[in-house]
Amino acid sequence: MTNLAYPPALHDGVVRVRPWRDTDLLCVEQAAQDPRIPVGTTVPARYTKEAGLAYIARQHARLTSGEGVALAIADQHTDQAVGHINLMLRPQEGVAGIGYWIVPAARRQGIVSRAISLTTAWGLSAGNLARIEGWVEPDNLASQRALEINGYLQEGRLRSFLTIGARRADVLVYSRIAADAQR
Ligand SMILES: CC(C)(COP(=O)(O)OP(=O)(O)OC[C@H]1O[C@@H](n2cnc3c(N)ncnc32)[C@H](O)[C@@H]1OP(=O)(O)O)[C@@H](O)C(=O)NCCC(=O)NCCS
Repeated sequence: MTNLAYPPALHDGVVRVRPWRDTDLLCVEQAAQDPRIPVGTTVPARYTKEAGLAYIARQHARLTSGEGVALAIADQHTDQAVGHINLMLRPQEGVAGIGYWIVPAARRQGIVSRAISLTTAWGLSAGNLARIEGWVEPDNLASQRALEINGYLQEGRLRSFLTIGARRADVLVYSRIAADAQR
């Protein structure tokens, strides 16, 4: 039985993964200015304080509705939020999809790789998941690399699998399973 809840404390000395707070609005505002994030997520394309607070409320609702768990990625020392990571349950028992973004100013510092590591380890242990999968567009090399660094294996390419904005997109499927974690 899958058992998703907010984790007690996930951090590695540099990055903290924790529930979203209403004080994280600056992070949502910066994400709204990125060309890619609002298209593939529910980050508002036009930021207002109300839209930002509604985004944060939606992240808490993922847990209460049983859809999954959605968390902020923050600097461990300042606690300033710089990104988002989630595990959303798939229809198959024990399977979740992982999703993430980092605000442009905080990219290329290894932050998402650290957040994926913390979240995956927790999901496959306390979260009681058997499999975590990532769906990544073929041109998104940073996302592919971040999964590969964390031991996710590429399983194949699903053609015309997602609607992203107004277009259809292929995705590469990556997964890490509980048995991998024991190796
Ligand atoms: C994808 C994304 C989350 C990466 O976040 P990040 O914190 O910059 O990633 P990291 O710094 O942990 O880098 C991960 C790896 O990708 C590499 N990388 C980062 N940006 C890259 C780029 N633009 N092109 C190629 N490789 C890149 C890094 O060098 C690192 O690999 P290395 O350790 O072997 O050097 C971020 O670019 C983003 O939010 N993009 C928009 C939203 C998105 O695409 N989300 C994922 C959807 S599947």
